[in-house]
Amino acid sequence: MSGNRSIKRVGLLTSGGDAPGMNAAIRAVTRAAIYHGIEVKAIYKGYLGIIEGLFKSFRTEDVSNIIQRGGTILKTARCDEFRTEEGRKKAYANLREQGIDALVVIGGDGSLAGARALAQEYNYPIVGVPATIDNDLQGTDLTIGYTTALNTIVEAVDKIRDTASSHNRLFFVEVMGREAGFLALNGAIAGGCEAAIIPEMHHTTGHIEESISSGFRKTKSSSIVLVTESNEEGGGAMAAAAKVQERFPDYDVRVTILGHIQRGGSPCATDRIMASRMGVAAIEALLEDQRNVMIGYDHDEIVYVPFVKAIKDHKPIHEKLLEIVNILSI
Ligand code: F6P
Repeated sequence: MSGNRSIKRVGLLTSGGDAPGMNAAIRAVTRAAIYHGIEVKAIYKGYLGIIEGLFKSFRTEDVSNIIQRGGTILKTARCDEFRTEEGRKKAYANLREQGIDALVVIGGDGSLAGARALAQEYNYPIVGVPATIDNDLQGTDLTIGYTTALNTIVEAVDKIRDTASSHNRLFFVEVMGREAGFLALNGAIAGGCEAAIIPEMHHTTGHIEESISSGFRKTKSSSIVLVTESNEEGGGAMAAAAKVQERFPDYDVRVTILGHIQRGGSPCATDRIMASRMGVAAIEALLEDQRNVMIGYDHDEIVYVPFVKAIKDHKPIHEKLLEIVNILSI
């Protein structure tokens, strides 16, 4: 590749909530950079690490034996100081001092918002790699970590189903996703759940009560409803369960909150492949003089998504998926 030869040293960090596949992305960015003759400075603890000067030169062997590991070997953090102009000024000065010509940021929407601010203020080249279990970034079909988290949810739901059907119980299972219902909705379809309560849906528990009255309890020995942690009524699965229990006092209702188990574990093949492709693409993007873009996946093709687009709007849920949950819960 001819490319932009002014980039001799690239900084690499992971930021925000960890996601399975981040290590595969670290490996891919590191090796692709070295392949193209670019030095890699790994940065520990995300943006905080830039401010605190936690840099380490990475060689190809520094990323050996990590493709299969969950979490992030670079550690991660949510950094309040970087949200301030003063913090970013310090960060930029440290990047310059280390001779880092460009940055690759692996993370979710908060991390890309930070990248965008730094890139704009200092006209600094940054490329983002989308990694979050929430799958809530615009312009990419999938984010790294989402598919593994979804598999974890489905595995948990299968286990809950065993006990739910043994006792004829109604379970409310809370999953992560922040303001996005992808995990709950697709988890509900893959787990054969009777319903999902997601932030994008505006009738929440009223809708569940209606479904219960009209029959999904009549034909089933168990029922499982997946709830996004922050549905619009607030309170997640606990609140949803309490309301339903009030309306149907005879039902044996239970709640399970899956929590951070969804963030851990070995990344599935899809996440490893996506992380590998996106990591290589991030370095190629910098060589092509792309800046302030996130690498996206659109129908199996790599695309460049401007930061502003990736983080601006709420990524829409495919409405057909809601209908599918309904149709299949009769
Ligand atoms: O963004 C990923 C995510 O796991 C969300 O689904 C969840 O709301 C949040 O992070 C939890 O963050 P923390 O681990 O900082 O509590």
